[in-house]
Amino acid sequence: MGFAMAIDGPAGAGKSTIAKMVAKKLGLTYIDTGAMYRAVAYYMYSNGVDTGNEQLVGEKCNDIDIVIEYIDGAQQVILNGENITSHLRDEAVGKLASTVAKMAAVRAKLVELQRKLASESRIVMDGRDIGTCVLPKADVKIYLDASVEERAKRRYKELTEKGVDCLIDIIRLDIEERDYEDMNRDISPLKQARDAILVDSSDMSIDEVVDKICSIYEESLS
Ligand code: DC
Repeated sequence: MGFAMAIDGPAGAGKSTIAKMVAKKLGLTYIDTGAMYRAVAYYMYSNGVDTGNEQLVGEKCNDIDIVIEYIDGAQQVILNGENITSHLRDEAVGKLASTVAKMAAVRAKLVELQRKLASESRIVMDGRDIGTCVLPKADVKIYLDASVEERAKRRYKELTEKGVDCLIDIIRLDIEERDYEDMNRDISPLKQARDAILVDSSDMSIDEVVDKICSIYEESLS
């Protein structure tokens, strides 16, 4: 029988880390929808498409074929036959992703792919509009949040550990800007679905959040 868990929330709330761990614990397939928006952004960027021209981006969407595969349980994004997964976390790609994610043609294409993937196995899917738009009938809906301050601290730690020189004030501004863009766009803005359970991870460890979501899953079965 199919099963779908939707995890939505703002950038940096820990959705992908948590969703991956929850999927492993519960034997579900993890689907990262942000990676799909990033893949579209990567295509536009590497083909020199003017992302200020929404009609052109829409037309170019017809040239894009995205296939999702798994290597040792890790999601791989295959764009027109090429595995581009290693390029998707670049800051430039992330910024452009939030621009293309506002466009109707991009969302229509990716939502169709996401619904198809969800119908094929028992899944945990994370994103911004999974509980509100992609899978409104998901069995479990989580809205994973954390304060801007906490998200900025986590991102700063992650980057400095990688040896990246950065300023926490700039990171905080970037997070606020991305929240604004995600929450205020016309199509499928980020918001908590009415039937989603809010999990605020600001003062929780990763393991505590995973345990909390797994217990919500168990309760949903009873
Ligand atoms: O979660 P992420 O940072 O990988 O997402 C990249 C961008 O895609 C981000 O600006 C929000 C957008 N996105 C979206 O609009 N809808 C989704 N379901 C997933 C991501």
